Amino acid sequence: MRILVTGGRGLVGGPLTSRLRAREGGAHEVLSLGHADLDVTDSSAVRAAFADFRPDAAAHLAAWTDVDGCEREPEKALRVNGDGTGNVAAAAASAGASLLHVSTDYVFDGRKAAPWTEEDAVGPVSSYGRSKLAGEEHVRRIPAGAWTVVRAQSIYGAGKKSFVDAILDRARSGQPLRVVTDQRVSPTWCDDLADLLADALFLRIRGLFHAANGGSCTWNECARAALDLAGMERVPVLPTTAAELARPAPRPANSAFDCAKLARAIGRAPRPWRDALAAYLATKCATEEAP
Ligand SMILES: NC(=O)c1ccc[n+]([C@@H]2O[C@H](COP(=O)([O-])OP(=O)(O)OC[C@H]3O[C@@H](n4cnc5c(N)ncnc54)[C@H](OP(=O)(O)O)[C@@H]3O)[C@@H](O)[C@H]2O)c1
Repeated sequence: MRILVTGGRGLVGGPLTSRLRAREGGAHEVLSLGHADLDVTDSSAVRAAFADFRPDAAAHLAAWTDVDGCEREPEKALRVNGDGTGNVAAAAASAGASLLHVSTDYVFDGRKAAPWTEEDAVGPVSSYGRSKLAGEEHVRRIPAGAWTVVRAQSIYGAGKKSFVDAILDRARSGQPLRVVTDQRVSPTWCDDLADLLADALFLRIRGLFHAANGGSCTWNECARAALDLAGMERVPVLPTTAAELARPAPRPANSAFDCAKLARAIGRAPRPWRDALAAYLATKCATEEAP
């Protein structure tokens, strides 16, 4: 299979690219494009990339993921995450390629008490969420249903400083830790998400899916777990609230995902978030200790 990846140098795009290249003994040809290789807001460049490579499938991960930046510059957010995705969807359709698009929990308002399913009504409360929803809408318009939208969330891992690394770095430097207790998430290791996306692509599942490591916790509980697993049990994690932090973009209060639909489609459930976090920290520790 010939597979084109956008956002290929990102937190998820990196591990996804290596998984796609490794599957079936390297049987697949993968063109993984970073931002410098292809700007998805340039419609003719996107069309040319698809026309030249002639992929059978594409995975679209390029996005402007700075949630507070998107709040300050909503037009840019829509241009990259909405129109940019429209360019990729149109080019994939013209090239006859199926499209796997990665979206977000931020399409929801966060006001549901239970985990979100694919049937739940969307209602983004931030500019980032609205721009990603606009992207989803472009993808759903691809004819013949050759599309898959996988909503992900709360991703951490190597390759880009994300929540878990920020917590550990802060604790090591002796700075106080204040983490929200009023935001519930399903923390997800980028490597586990990359495995799920690769399965979704090769199994050719179609439609809308939620993907995350299993279960949920508050960000404060996630920080506590990361510190405990890293041997820093004595470091306190003080409570705070979203209102106290007053960040530019509002975040959904509950983002927990129900991933049963994805589990049925690919024949396995994502592992629990705590197991994934332990696996990430074991990998990180081994890498840091290597000579
Ligand atoms: N991280 C999360 O917690 C999270 C949660 C839910 C959903 N998602 C979604 O998952 C996907 C992958 O995100 P990620 O976590 O891997 O984020 P990431 O590390 O920020 O990767 C996104 C990549 O897209 C690139 N990009 C930005 N603007 C672009 C443009 N105009 N044209 C081409 N490339 C562009 C970025 O390059 P530069 O950095 O060089 O600009 C970056 O390498 C995204 O669709 C994101 O919306 C992420």
